[in-house]
Amino acid sequence: MIFVIGAATPAADRCGIIGALMNAHADPHTSLAARLAHVVPEAEIALAEPLIARIAALKAEHDALVLAHNYQTPLVSSVADFTGDSLAMAQYALEAPARTLVVCGVRFMAETVKLLCPDKCVLLSAAEAGCSLADSIDAEAVRAVRAACPGVPVVAYINTTAAVKAEVDVCCTSANAVRVVRALGAPRVIMLPDQHLAGFVAEESGVEVIAWGGQCEVHTRFNPADIRAFRLETQVTVLAHPECPEGVRAEADFVGSTGAMAHFLSERRPPRAMLLTECAMADNVAVQCPDIQFVRPCNLCPHMKATTLERVVQALEMLAAPIEIDPALAARARRPIARMLEIG
Ligand code: 13P
Ligand code: SF4
Repeated sequence: MIFVIGAATPAADRCGIIGALMNAHADPHTSLAARLAHVVPEAEIALAEPLIARIAALKAEHDALVLAHNYQTPLVSSVADFTGDSLAMAQYALEAPARTLVVCGVRFMAETVKLLCPDKCVLLSAAEAGCSLADSIDAEAVRAVRAACPGVPVVAYINTTAAVKAEVDVCCTSANAVRVVRALGAPRVIMLPDQHLAGFVAEESGVEVIAWGGQCEVHTRFNPADIRAFRLETQVTVLAHPECPEGVRAEADFVGSTGAMAHFLSERRPPRAMLLTECAMADNVAVQCPDIQFVRPCNLCPHMKATTLERVVQALEMLAAPIEIDPALAARARRPIARMLEIG
């Protein structure tokens, strides 16, 4: 059962990009053009090559590693030392052997990396890249919800600011949310800020969830009727992110984090797939799984798309505006992340 409180976030425009058939394998000896063929136009790859070479030189100069979220474009992913979902990025950051970490993603991801690696220089490639879902709740609202439900544990999605994390008991990502809530052993929890992830957790765990009413401007744009219409036209395996609304999740064959979707597809290899998530996800999986045809709809995240190769070059050249978090706040915000990582 789920009870929703608090406000919702606005919606973004839908994008009709179709992830195309791909024919590349992730062999490091294969040229970039061959690996990204059919995903990225040849001319775009040619334009990108000098930037990619510059990034490689800057990484060596500054002892830097690049972490990219699964929603980055295949070209940005091609300069990354690590790509994955939010949980995998945090786990990688803990062990990352470099002085500088460049996060190609959004601010809450870079903040998480900084909280886990306080002694490293952490850069967000597009410094303005926020997340409207994360911005749908602040620390004061968390305190108010907690006061209204005394004794109920508070679980924060990793898509929150450090100030919000400092107020909660444990964090979760879309990859481990059900596990984290079950591990608490409580009959009722508060989950924030995404009401749809909270609904998914309530369904899967049987735990009663009091949810903040935030939603992702990207995933909330999908609708069940579109999916049913596609299924009438073609045989397609549908995968949905848990940030999708309940009716959309109900139409899907599989619901999971971006990392779980990639894993499902690489294991099962359906001939045709629809990913109800950010558009770049299909492009990135297509690089690894050239035999899968990806069909629309998908939606763009404007925050994720603020990162380009040019922005990665600038971040590494200037080393400007590294992520800084007040040490006292950081100490409080680190605790729920550490608790989450212990649960796994
Ligand atoms: P994942 O942790 O599943 O990669 O999701 C992050 C995100 O922001 C989805 O919108
Ligand atoms: Fe935030 Fe949604 Fe973009 Fe993910 S896809 S970063 S939740 S706005």
